Amino acid sequence: MRSAPFTLLLSAILCAAGCSDGGDGDGGETTGSGGATGGTTSGGTTSGTPSGATTGSGDTTSASSGATTGSGDTTSASNGATSGTGGGATTGGGAGGEGTGGSDGTGGGASARVPAASASTLREAGEKANPPLLIGAAISGGGLGNNDYKRVAAAEHNYVTAENEMKWDALEPSSGNFSWGNADTIVNWARQNNMKVKGHTLVWHSQLPGWMSSMTGKANVEAAMRRHITQVMGHFKDRLDHWDVVNEAVQTDSDTGVGNPRMRPTVFYNQIGADYIDLAFRIAREQDPKAKLYYNDYSIDARNDKVEFVYNMIKGMVDRGVPIDGVGFQMHIGPPNNEATGADVAANFKRFTDLGLEVLISEMDINRCGGVVTADEQLTYYHDIVAACFKEPKCTAITFWGINDGRSWLNSWSGALCNGQSSQSLLFNDQYGKKETYNRVMNALLGK
Ligand code: G3I
Repeated sequence: MRSAPFTLLLSAILCAAGCSDGGDGDGGETTGSGGATGGTTSGGTTSGTPSGATTGSGDTTSASSGATTGSGDTTSASNGATSGTGGGATTGGGAGGEGTGGSDGTGGGASARVPAASASTLREAGEKANPPLLIGAAISGGGLGNNDYKRVAAAEHNYVTAENEMKWDALEPSSGNFSWGNADTIVNWARQNNMKVKGHTLVWHSQLPGWMSSMTGKANVEAAMRRHITQVMGHFKDRLDHWDVVNEAVQTDSDTGVGNPRMRPTVFYNQIGADYIDLAFRIAREQDPKAKLYYNDYSIDARNDKVEFVYNMIKGMVDRGVPIDGVGFQMHIGPPNNEATGADVAANFKRFTDLGLEVLISEMDINRCGGVVTADEQLTYYHDIVAACFKEPKCTAITFWGINDGRSWLNSWSGALCNGQSSQSLLFNDQYGKKETYNRVMNALLGK
C-alpha cells in the first residue's frame, strides 16, 4: 500500500538546554460540560469485536468495505482535488499535487512551503508562510477566564479547538436537548480574535452521555447520530467550517498503537456496524458542502500497527467516494501514547497526502512525566515533527493541546505518569513565558 518513497525531513538540532518547566499549575478548569461517561483513551486493552476495516496483514474481517451506508445521496466526494486555488509556493519546482486545501488557501499546487523571513509570533510565522499554515490551540472555557491565557492564546494562534465544550456530553446532555452556551463562548471569542475554529468532535465514544452510550437498535443509533450531526453543524454553520467528524474509531492492545489493531467497539460500531464512519461523513457533507471534514486519531504518528489499519480504513473511504478531506494526527507524544520521530511523521504524512488528503497535527503535546521522554528528546521532537508538517504543503494546521503546562490534560490523566505534577508538555510555562519548546517550534516554522 505504501506509495512512493518518502523524503526524510530532519535537520536535527542538538539540544543543550532543558525545558523551563511550568511549575505551579493552576489547572483544573472546568466549564461544566457534565460528567464524562465514555471510555478513555488510556487503559489499553478493551474487549473488542474486531472486524471492520481491512488490515494490511493477515486476517481481515471485511465489513468496512462496500460503502453501503444507505445514507442516500453521495454529495460530493470532496477529498482532494477540490480546487487547490490557494498556495502556490514554488521552492523545489515540481508540479505539485492536486490540492486538498482550496478555500483556506492552503495546499494546492505547492511542492514545498516557503517560510516567512521573520516572525514575532507563531501565528505570524504561520500566516506569512506560503502556503499559510494554521497555528492552533485547544482552548478551554476555564482558560478564557484568565487574561494572560487569553492574551497568549490570541497572539500566538489563529485556529481554535474547544478542548471539551463541543463534545457530545457538553452539547446534547439529554436526548434532543442542546446546550450551546459554553461552546458559543469559545467560538465567539475566537471569531473576535480572527481565529478559525475546528468543531471537535461530532462522533466519538468518549464524553458521550449515558443515554447515548447505552442506546440499542441500529435505527435508533443512526437517527440519534444524524440528529446530533445535523443540529450541531446547523447551529455553528455560519461560524465554522472545519470539523472532526469521527474521532478515535480504531484501537490497539496498547495505547501506543501496537498490537491487534481493530475497530473500537463503540455504541456506533456495535449498533450500526463499521459503516457508521462513512455514514457520519456523508451526513456531515449533506449539512455543509464546503466544510473540511476530518478523521482524527491518536498514536498514528509513529510507524505502528494502528497507522497501518487507519491507512487502510481511510483508503477504503477514499476509494468509495466518502467525503473526507483530511486526517488529523493528534501527536500526543509520550505516555500514554506513542513516540514518533520527525521521519516517522513525514513518512506517514506522505502516504495520506498521496491519497489526495490533507493532513493536520491536531492535538500536539509532548509529555515528560516518568522520564520516558527526556528534555533533549522533547526539544528534538518538537522541532522535527513541526518541521515535518511545515515542509509538507498539504499539512494545513498544527494545533497544540493547550496553552500552558499547568492546565494540560496529562497532569491528571491515568497512564500519563504525572500523578498531578506538571507534564511540562507545552510551549508556555505557568507565568505564560515562552519555553525552549516554543523556540524550537518557531525555528521549524521559519524553516530553520
Ligand atoms: O466537567 C467535569 C467536572 O464537572 C467534574 O467535576 C470533573 C471531575 O473529574 O470532571 C470534569 O470533566 C472532565 C473534563 O475533562 C473537563 O475538565 C473529565 O473528568 C475529564 O475526563 C475530561 O478530560 C478530557 C478528555 O479529553 C476526555 O476524554 C480532557 O480535558 C481533554 O483534554 C481530552 O481531550 C482529548 C481529545 O478530545 C481527543 N483526543 C485525546 C485528548 C486527550 O485525552
